[in-house]
Amino acid sequence: MKYGFFDDERKEYVITNPQTPFPWINYLGNKDFFSLISNTAGGYSFYKDAKFRRINRYRYNNVPMDNGGRYFYINDEGTVWSPGWKPVKTELDHYECRHGLSYTSIKGEKNDIEAEVVFFVPLNALCEVQKMKLTNKSSKTKKIKLFSLIEWCLWNAEDDQNNLQRNLSTGEVEIHGSTLYHKTEYKERRNHYAFYHVNAPIQGFDTDRESFIGLYNEFSHPDAVFTGKPKNSEAHGWSPIASHCLEVELQPGESKEYIFLLGYVENTEDKKWESKGVINKTKANRTIEQFNSSEKVNRALDKLATYWDNLLSNYSIHSGNDKLDRMVNIWNQYQCMVTFNMSRSASFFEVGIGRGMGFRDSNQDLIGFIHQIPERARERIIDIASTQFEDGGAYHQYQPLTKRGNNAVGGNFNDDPLWLILSTTAYIKETGDFSILEEIVPFDNDESRAKTHFEHLKASFYHVVNNLGPHQLPLIGRADWNDCLNLNCFSKDPNESFQTTENQTGGSAESIMIAGLFVVYGKDFVELCRRIGRKDEADNAQEHVDKMVKSIKKHGWDGEWFLRAYDSFGNKVGSKDNEEGKIFIESQGWCTMAGIGKNEGMCEKALNSVKKYLDCEYGIVLNHPAFTKYVIEYGEISTYPAGYKENAGIFCHNNPWVMIGETMIGRGDQAWEYFRKICPSYLEEISDLHKTEPYAYAQMIAGKDAFKPGEAKNSWLTGTAAWTYYVITQYILGVKPSYDGLEISPCIPKTWKSYTVSRKFRGAVYEISIDNSEGVNCGIKELTINGETMHKNVIPIQKAGTINKVNVKMG
Ligand code: GLC
Ligand code: GLC
Repeated sequence: MKYGFFDDERKEYVITNPQTPFPWINYLGNKDFFSLISNTAGGYSFYKDAKFRRINRYRYNNVPMDNGGRYFYINDEGTVWSPGWKPVKTELDHYECRHGLSYTSIKGEKNDIEAEVVFFVPLNALCEVQKMKLTNKSSKTKKIKLFSLIEWCLWNAEDDQNNLQRNLSTGEVEIHGSTLYHKTEYKERRNHYAFYHVNAPIQGFDTDRESFIGLYNEFSHPDAVFTGKPKNSEAHGWSPIASHCLEVELQPGESKEYIFLLGYVENTEDKKWESKGVINKTKANRTIEQFNSSEKVNRALDKLATYWDNLLSNYSIHSGNDKLDRMVNIWNQYQCMVTFNMSRSASFFEVGIGRGMGFRDSNQDLIGFIHQIPERARERIIDIASTQFEDGGAYHQYQPLTKRGNNAVGGNFNDDPLWLILSTTAYIKETGDFSILEEIVPFDNDESRAKTHFEHLKASFYHVVNNLGPHQLPLIGRADWNDCLNLNCFSKDPNESFQTTENQTGGSAESIMIAGLFVVYGKDFVELCRRIGRKDEADNAQEHVDKMVKSIKKHGWDGEWFLRAYDSFGNKVGSKDNEEGKIFIESQGWCTMAGIGKNEGMCEKALNSVKKYLDCEYGIVLNHPAFTKYVIEYGEISTYPAGYKENAGIFCHNNPWVMIGETMIGRGDQAWEYFRKICPSYLEEISDLHKTEPYAYAQMIAGKDAFKPGEAKNSWLTGTAAWTYYVITQYILGVKPSYDGLEISPCIPKTWKSYTVSRKFRGAVYEISIDNSEGVNCGIKELTINGETMHKNVIPIQKAGTINKVNVKMG
């Protein structure tokens, strides 16, 4: 069952039924000011950090789901309704929500009044604009009352839930014409406040929640709205809100537009006040001035559209297959921007107070983002590297506002360092900018311990070399990529975190996934060293890589597939000898990507085993058989019911590793089949089962052992976005940035006859046509650029500004 449709022309997903199986959301804002918005206008805004600079309150884990947002209420002679259906939930005559690129438009109609609100965060502005258009579709004059509502929470969002003894006494507001200011804690340590404005005179307002809603009432039934009488309340402590009341008269056929603005302001210490106790409103007024008319707002919307058109045009395809084209050209790239901005902090599954930017997550997210805005990618790489320790280890997470490592979580996740090699080499391949290696970057944010970025990469590489276990395989530490395979944890206490507890001393557990990862990025490190003329460095590193390949072949092979690990007792994990968890996906992915034992048929065997044991209707599960009992020496993985999350769920993030592995042995049909299975646009028809948005990847889909296979959870903030984009664009469609130019090596289903890719690369445009009339999976027979035949499959870098025709004949 579907709840809407894709409008590819407008790059939108259109939701036609507000009761989606789970709130279907969108992200507004691309830089400092962000908003999350659901299809019923639920969600919240924040400045840079969803924990420390949350602007309005949102109630996670509530009943019903999705409580809190920016709500509008209309009182039309006693009939009260909301354009986004919630919170009033009056049945609408018509409803439509269009999620587009950094904007959302929600339209509701009741009794011949249509209300359409476009929500967006303009480029380079610290506010959310809400453009409300009211239309009278009837033949008589209508007099309605329109109420807005924002519930403030401009303090630590974690405190908001657990420090009421303080928070309920601190609230302060200022009211100034049509602008309502929230200035709680501003007179002490905060240098920021928020405001909510409308560009028209108001008939009344409320800033105190209880006055607006009424004692024991709810958001669905506020007193002020239902009686049609704002209370003009002024909040002192308790729960400050901002609500405007406008009386609107509409002639038959008439439309009126109002611009609401939710803004954030930071002032320097000496410019905080206008007069004693009165906040300095200069910046707020400037923002208001920028967006106080429909014309100005429409211009800002146009700029936003141009901005996205430009970003998306760096890679676009025409395959004749809508479901694929819309993912590559629009939604997957868009999600990569979102994961770049949010890491794993703020979604409807991640509450914005727990996790900051992950070291491994943010590095991986970059591979789906670099081609969009390389300068921002570069900045991010340096931020991440600045949190690294001198021995190459890393804080597992850091806070976006302070850019400091998170001490509560600490480090010792031994895969972390290697992802820095991935992001950096991907950045250089895209841009050719080797100067990043010379950048002076601190360790642990301590400027006195700064070295070149190249030294950081070297530290990453040697962190693995210096932490090998009894089989000369990498020690796993607290966990590798799989946060839930905690081989040194041994926890008996339900109050302990599996990620931060290390009860097992000695810590000799080893990871074959990290071993494979090391071979892949170790080779990249070697190549990089050669390119910058560090021959000795390269030779030394190559020796370590060769040794690792040997160790994997000797101690990491189980006969039909790669082992996953050795536990802390030196027992095999992911072996035919195990009762449960005989085979795991991660080591099959990484060891085949590394091409380990390719000539001996190991890769093919391992991938055949993936197909046989791990593949199912909805994707590839993480391990098989699922764990049915708690295994203390394995940790969190065995705590989940069978088929969920890391215990045999389809953990989508790792599926692309197998897809890449398949392309390494030329099996384009299989790579594509795996791609299609987890691709959201292909799951639109089963939205009632799949539950999450058909335009965004989810972290997990319940696996074959689950109670309800196919049900997805945790959409948006997942490494799946970057990895699926990476595999489809570079390995399946086969257009890959490399140091010397664009490498062309498609690996596609035999049935695909042709497709075109338009790629902007280092300033030039490449219009690539791929002809597969011979029906092969891979292989190139002929390649021409601007009519000239090439004898290899790397197109040399063309002059910036040129448009180049590339014709590829497969066979
Ligand atoms: C989550 C984490 C990621 C981890 C994965 C597997 O997505 O953000 O860091 O690799 O789970 O456990
Ligand atoms: C939990 C989750 C896992 C996530 C980790 C992050 O263990 O199950 O997916 O990566 O938390 O800390």
